[in-house]
This record gives sequence, structure tokens and C-alpha cells, in this order.
Amino acid sequence: MTTLTRELKPLLLFLVTITSSTLLPVQSDNTNHVYSPCADTTVQVSDGFTFSIAFSSSKAFFFNSTLQLSPCDSRLSLTSQNSQISVFRPKVDEISLLTINTSSFSPGDFGGYMVAFAGRKYAARSLPAFVANSTYTVTSFTLVLEFKKGRLQNLYWKRDGCAKCSGNSKFVCLNNQDCAIRTSSCIKNGGSVDCSLGIQLAFSGTDKHFSALNSWYEVENLRQYSLYGLYSNLRDSLTSQYNNIF
Ligand SMILES: *[C@@H]1O[C@H](CO)[C@@H](O)[C@H](O)[C@H]1NC(C)=O
Ligand SMILES: *[C@@H]1O[C@H](CO)[C@@H](O)[C@H](O)[C@H]1NC(C)=O
Ligand SMILES: *[C@@H]1O[C@H](CO)[C@@H](O)[C@H](O)[C@H]1NC(C)=O
Repeated sequence: MTTLTRELKPLLLFLVTITSSTLLPVQSDNTNHVYSPCADTTVQVSDGFTFSIAFSSSKAFFFNSTLQLSPCDSRLSLTSQNSQISVFRPKVDEISLLTINTSSFSPGDFGGYMVAFAGRKYAARSLPAFVANSTYTVTSFTLVLEFKKGRLQNLYWKRDGCAKCSGNSKFVCLNNQDCAIRTSSCIKNGGSVDCSLGIQLAFSGTDKHFSALNSWYEVENLRQYSLYGLYSNLRDSLTSQYNNIF
């Protein structure tokens, strides 16, 4: 088992128009040539896998108020809503930390919720997760991508029930699941915290050769957020700044 850790920034952050032509790179050991988040594929360990995160209001992710659809589904018409999309291509079974720099993008201005998604016929999407509004901002998330025989089955937000912020008066525990800081503490609002988003990513299940994807078990065994310490810009801008400021 060789699980590397790496940091990924979005390949693209753009208003919703998902096309398959826009996405780039080819890695030598990559056998997955599907680069659109809105197409189906099966993967093996060390392939790249493209998925996407959409930011919008919670209700924009539901068709007719009740049925949550993939943002790839045109019935949602996210294009006509106030939405943004970022696209990522992590390597399967590597623990990655996705970062979205909010210095020029405020999730709260785009409805404040995010959904991770990939696939078309076999569309998978996470539940909407609260990111930010004018009062609170959540900056740290863990997303699990669950595969079965190499096909994405499920995407879900793994929560730790505010274990990291209980007892710290500078954080607020929202809905018993998310540690939030006050949006007024963010640089954009005159505070001193870089409220960029960090999303720790892990893979579970099996690849197309039935090999087990293990990175999830490693994340589970690490203390949540421990990876942030590995990434210098986040160590400086996220973790330590909380210690310094609060
Ligand atoms: C939307 O929901 C309402 C009430 O549940 C239902 O009557 C209506 O047929 C639905 N519309 C569509 C387009 O599914
Ligand atoms: C976000 O971008 C700003 C401006 O380029 C930079 O100063 C800041 O360090 C970046 N934050 C992160 C977490 O990369
Ligand atoms: C911001 O979000 C929190 C948590 O979801 C909620 O309790 C609060 O009412 C919201 N505030 C505003 C101004 O929307």
C-alpha cells in the first residue's frame, strides 16, 4: 500500500457550464481518460479521477423542492442560479487535501452550500454541506469517495461531531457536526483569518480489479485535520492562525 499525500487546488473554478473538453492533464500511470465530472468511468488505484464541487443555495440542489439531483442533471438548471463549480482530479487512493482559496471567491455569496458530485448515468452526489453565510464560516471538511469495482457509488461528508472545537470558545459548533468560525473574523470582512476551504479527501471500497482502497482507513486513524499540518500554506494560514488569533 503506497498512499501519498498531496495538496490539490481546483483545476477550474468557473460559472456552471460543464463540458468535457476543458480538462487537462495526462499522467503516465493514468488509465482513466474520462476528464469530465459529468461522465461515467471506472478506475483503478493510481488513476486520476475527476469530480466536482458545486456551490449554491441548498434549495438549488433539489428538483421540485424534494428530489436532490446531481448538478450534472440539466433539470436543476444550476446555470440560471447563482452557482459556482470547481473541478478536481485527485489520484485514486491518495489522501489529498483540496484547497479553495476564498480570497477572490466567497462561498457565502453563492448560496453558502456545497455538493460534491461525479457521473451521469451512474450519478453520485453528496448531501449539501453548509459552508458559509454572513454569520458563520466552516473551513474544514472531510469527503469520502466510495467506489465499488472501480465505479463511484457514493460521496459523503465525514463529520466528527465538533470534537475538534468543543471547549474552544472561538469556534461555534453548528448542528452538532461542524466547527465554524465567525465570518467577521475572515480577512475579507476585516478580520485576520484566511477563510480558505480545506477538504481532506479519502477513498474507500474497491477499484476495478477488486483491490481495496485504503486511504480512508488511514484518515480514520489520523486525527481529523492532522493533514493540514503537512501543507505549509495551510499550516500558516489556517491552523496556526487559529492558535495565534484566538
Ligand atoms: C412537483 O411536486 C408537486 C407536489 O409534490 C407535484 O404535484 C408535481 O407534479 C411535481 N412536479 C414535477 C414536475 O415533478
Ligand atoms: C489565498 O490567496 C491569497 C492571495 O493570493 C494569499 O495571500 C493566501 O495565502 C492564499 N491562501 C491560501 C490558503 O492558499
Ligand atoms: C447562518 O447559518 C447558521 C447555521 O446554519 C444559521 O443558524 C444562521 O441563522 C444563519 N444566519 C444567517 C444570517 O443566515
